[in-house]
Amino acid sequence: MNIEMTVRPGISQISPYVPGLTDDELKEKYGLTQVVKLNANENALGPSPLAIDALVREASHVHHYPDGSSEMLRNAIAQFHGVDPNCVLAGNGSDNVIKLLAETFLNPGDNIVTPNPTFSEYELAALVMDAQVKLVDLADDFTYDVESLVAAVDAKTKLLFICSPNNPTSTIMTEEQFSYVLDNTPENVVVVVDFAYNDFSTRQDRAQVRHSLFESPRVVTLHTFSKLYGLAGLRVGYGLAHPDLWAYVNRIREPFNVNRLAQRAAAVALTDAVHRDASILLAAKGKAHYGRFAEQHGLFMPDGEGNFTLIRVGDGKAVTQALMAKGVMVRHGFRGILDCIRITYGTDEENEQCTRALAAVLDRR
Ligand SMILES: Cc1ncc(COP(=O)(O)O)c(C=O)c1O
Repeated sequence: MNIEMTVRPGISQISPYVPGLTDDELKEKYGLTQVVKLNANENALGPSPLAIDALVREASHVHHYPDGSSEMLRNAIAQFHGVDPNCVLAGNGSDNVIKLLAETFLNPGDNIVTPNPTFSEYELAALVMDAQVKLVDLADDFTYDVESLVAAVDAKTKLLFICSPNNPTSTIMTEEQFSYVLDNTPENVVVVVDFAYNDFSTRQDRAQVRHSLFESPRVVTLHTFSKLYGLAGLRVGYGLAHPDLWAYVNRIREPFNVNRLAQRAAAVALTDAVHRDASILLAAKGKAHYGRFAEQHGLFMPDGEGNFTLIRVGDGKAVTQALMAKGVMVRHGFRGILDCIRITYGTDEENEQCTRALAAVLDRR
């Protein structure tokens, strides 16, 4: 049987995701005893100890299904943001919320507008629905070109994705730019702003959650526990939007989309201001460390926020591979910026190890 005859055409056109080596595979390949994992924008501090205690306490209850509406977690999130719990939809990671939005809004032939480069899940979610993807290049310094973003919106546009700070460039959308986007796009286009890394930032002019955003079902903001809260392995994220919008999304959401351990740990993680502040501080130190390195070596590093940075190194793939041989894992291969690598900020020691290895690799060229 030729299975491709049966598969939906849109699916056969999607390139399969090729995962990089795991840290264990890397150790084995290069005979390393230790690797520095700076390739997935995870939290170098690990999870909040309070969240781990909560998770362990919950573990003996995993024979029961989770609360299908994640009520306790949604209440905790609502309280944290000062919004109504009905404005919150919890997901199996924010990836899950992105997919649900695509499934809810996109017909074949519709389109989404996204910056380029950006987080790949927006595009994947659209392609799965046989929708088109309209990419709008960032400016040369990787800041947002909001005029072009708005100009790309047409009668077929249903969703406009913004990522701030943007993965992989780390650059932000300012509040002023965000207002411009909202003022210059039709009411029937849902604007989705992914704030996965926004809480690492203290920049005053950045776009942020404002209660007025949720007065009508026009805007969705996305948030995750995978980054600042260090719970990537548990898979939990959420969206904030007007309850009318979630009422439709909830019709197709899997009933038990957030597991018990994740619900419990995430709710407690929100209360751990010590862990949150330490994570923000560590990211700020990482930014300063790589900023100094880039300046010393005359390398371009965008003016960014979040817990990661891009650095322009020439041949991103070759540099990434050379770093791997030295036990340092970073990411490369983002569309249109193959001359850059993305480095997640680690602990002080990990950052030192990374820049030492990077200096050696760059000197050898
Ligand atoms: C911008 C952005 N949004 C969402 C996610 C996914 O987060 P989650 O782990 O909650 O699915 C990531 C993960 O890398 C990301 O970079």
